[in-house]
Amino acid sequence: MHILITGGCGFVGSHLCRALKTRFPGYKITALDNLVRKGAELNVPLLQSMDIEIVQGDIRSREIFAKVNSFDVMIDAAAEPSVLAGTQGDHRYLIDNNFNGTLNCLDACTQNKARLIFISTSRVYPYASVNKLPFVEETTRYTFTPSAVEGYSEKGIAESFDTHGAKTFYGASKFASEVLIEEYRTALGLEAIINRCGIIAGPGQMGKVDQGVAVYWAAAHFWKKPLAYFGFNGSGKQVRDFLHIKDLAALIIRQIEDPYLFKDAYYQVGGGLRNTQSLLELTDICQRISQHKIPVGTRLENRSGDIRIYYSDNDLIEGRCGWKPTLGPEEILSDIFNWIHREEDKLRNVLI
Ligand SMILES: NC(=O)c1ccc[n+]([C@@H]2O[C@H](COP(=O)([O-])OP(=O)(O)OC[C@H]3O[C@@H](n4cnc5c(N)ncnc54)[C@H](O)[C@@H]3O)[C@@H](O)[C@H]2O)c1
Repeated sequence: MHILITGGCGFVGSHLCRALKTRFPGYKITALDNLVRKGAELNVPLLQSMDIEIVQGDIRSREIFAKVNSFDVMIDAAAEPSVLAGTQGDHRYLIDNNFNGTLNCLDACTQNKARLIFISTSRVYPYASVNKLPFVEETTRYTFTPSAVEGYSEKGIAESFDTHGAKTFYGASKFASEVLIEEYRTALGLEAIINRCGIIAGPGQMGKVDQGVAVYWAAAHFWKKPLAYFGFNGSGKQVRDFLHIKDLAALIIRQIEDPYLFKDAYYQVGGGLRNTQSLLELTDICQRISQHKIPVGTRLENRSGDIRIYYSDNDLIEGRCGWKPTLGPEEILSDIFNWIHREEDKLRNVLI
């Protein structure tokens, strides 16, 4: 068995490379990455030390796949993962990278008769619809209140939530990739699993102001750098669910082991209600672990695409295979702080 992981030197990809090599030592694992993400290069020696092959290249080039031996499974984790990269940056780069890159991945899969596991995003759900859900403001967070909207319950947002509407260029690039996957399934017999992930976090994430909030928050506390609550009147009460990368890896291992249990469907894969945190609450955890209290400013205005509350209803995937997150926000943050502490010298130039 040969597993190709695009974006294999990034946060999700490199963790999956290592988790799969550990679980299946006899499998060949290849990481394909153009190392565009700052800090991704730090993962290369570790992956090589585990006998994981590195192919440096860009999935926007079809030719790059000729440099990879035939493979049986592809995990597509190569993307520009920042929402703000599209709304405040070069949206054409983001669309080209995430959509055209995936198009080449799909052709490579069909040529190799390989299965695909696509790491998609909760951003496929339109932010205006999510922000329209009723809520109350509590002391440290916003909380959803009941409403009869399809795909929404107190357990969170489910797969049946309406996907019509603007989702940010990032969300659109991933949703368009999902739509294309559907065509490849139907017309070309591609076997594919789509995991719509919420916030994934943990050690190894090269967090920055626009992506990777848990590491960004922890690093600011560790090195005593100022932070700011953006949007929602600077309240810091916006809520997300956090999924430990180890929990995602456990699910992907199940999907490799038993593909027919999961095939041809898409799943909500997030931390879920129990793993929700507001930014204020995240600050509290970071203060307790680091014993540092840093200034946190406020920016009152919302940025395009900001979401007040989001968390995944994982019922479908849990019902399919019994998977659910095992590690909560405290464990995620304490693993992140331990990693920063251990790798302080290497990470100083990347994380701040
Ligand atoms: N981190 C999250 O919270 C999160 C949540 C939902 C979905 N996802 C998805 O998970 C996947 C991985 O995200 P991540 O958090 O590991 O991000 P990351 O930036 O750490 O990893 C992505 C990797 O892909 C590489 N890459 C980017 N464009 C490439 C290209 N054209 N060719 C080859 N390599 C390329 C980068 O160098 C990087 O190493 C992405 O598809 C993202 O959309 C991430």
